[in-house]
Amino acid sequence: MKPLRYRTALVTGASSGLGRGLALWFAGRGVEVYAAARRQAELENLRDAGRRLAGRIVPMVLDVGDAEAVRHAVTILDGKCGGLDLVVANAGVTGVTDGRNINWQTTETIIDVNVKGAASTLCAALPGMVARNRGHIVGVSSLARHRGLPQYAAYAASKAFLSTFLESLRIDLHDSKVDVTCLQPGFVKTAMTERNKFYMPFLMDLEEGVEQMASAIVRREREYSFPWQMEGAVSLLKTLPNAVFDRMSAKMRSRREDAS
Ligand SMILES: NC(=O)c1ccc[n+]([C@@H]2O[C@H](COP(=O)([O-])OP(=O)(O)OC[C@H]3O[C@@H](n4cnc5c(N)ncnc54)[C@H](OP(=O)(O)O)[C@@H]3O)[C@@H](O)[C@H]2O)c1
Repeated sequence: MKPLRYRTALVTGASSGLGRGLALWFAGRGVEVYAAARRQAELENLRDAGRRLAGRIVPMVLDVGDAEAVRHAVTILDGKCGGLDLVVANAGVTGVTDGRNINWQTTETIIDVNVKGAASTLCAALPGMVARNRGHIVGVSSLARHRGLPQYAAYAASKAFLSTFLESLRIDLHDSKVDVTCLQPGFVKTAMTERNKFYMPFLMDLEEGVEQMASAIVRREREYSFPWQMEGAVSLLKTLPNAVFDRMSAKMRSRREDAS
């Protein structure tokens, strides 16, 4: 196996699902991984699971919903570890935000974590990387970024923000040695999707999802969407005129309501 170009990495949302899988994947290849999330017990469990790996997992209790705490923690970490080589803004939440019964509390939490949390993580890490002219920032967006989804307005919009934010950063950093990757998964089996009551086409196993994401990071892809079948379906949806898309989505919404 070719050695990785990363010595240190920060992964947010590492206490479960894709973030946990990514932390183990990179630690398994010799990287010192700072694993951030709110639940300390899960992070300690992750550190123990990574004990025999070539790298090291260091738990870091952090609420990415607190932008000032993120800035402080990432700046200190960057100095302490001799510069972060890889930062993966993966922490995310979902929830129903239904236009017929809109709930500000859920909407605000999604914005705080998926938008402000991801942006503050990347903004805290970037200045050091730019100064060193070396590094790699990654955001975990979603194929949901492409169009409005019934009952998931806040989630779809939060991922649209992250994908567009990363695209602009990528252009700004084009002539530098700081790489930018935007990952856009379809459905992967995690605690997040376990709660979904609707049908999830092309649902992937966690191991496969992690492998796809980690490999895309190592290849330094600019934007990577998977699985290909879901990406194809979404590409088609993007071409539909609003009137057709709205009718289709409204039918999907009714089917979901009938099934629940
Ligand atoms: N699974 C999918 O099908 C899928 C598809 C597309 C995109 N994604 C994206 O992939 C990312 C990971 O999701 P997942 O499926 O692995 O879900 P998950 O298993 O529920 O993991 C979410 C992670 O985010 C962390 N988190 C939530 N709020 C946080 C906060 N305020 N501060 C710090 N960490 C926080 C959680 O840790 P704590 O609760 O311990 O803080 C947890 O580690 C998310 O951004 C999600 O939107 C997932």
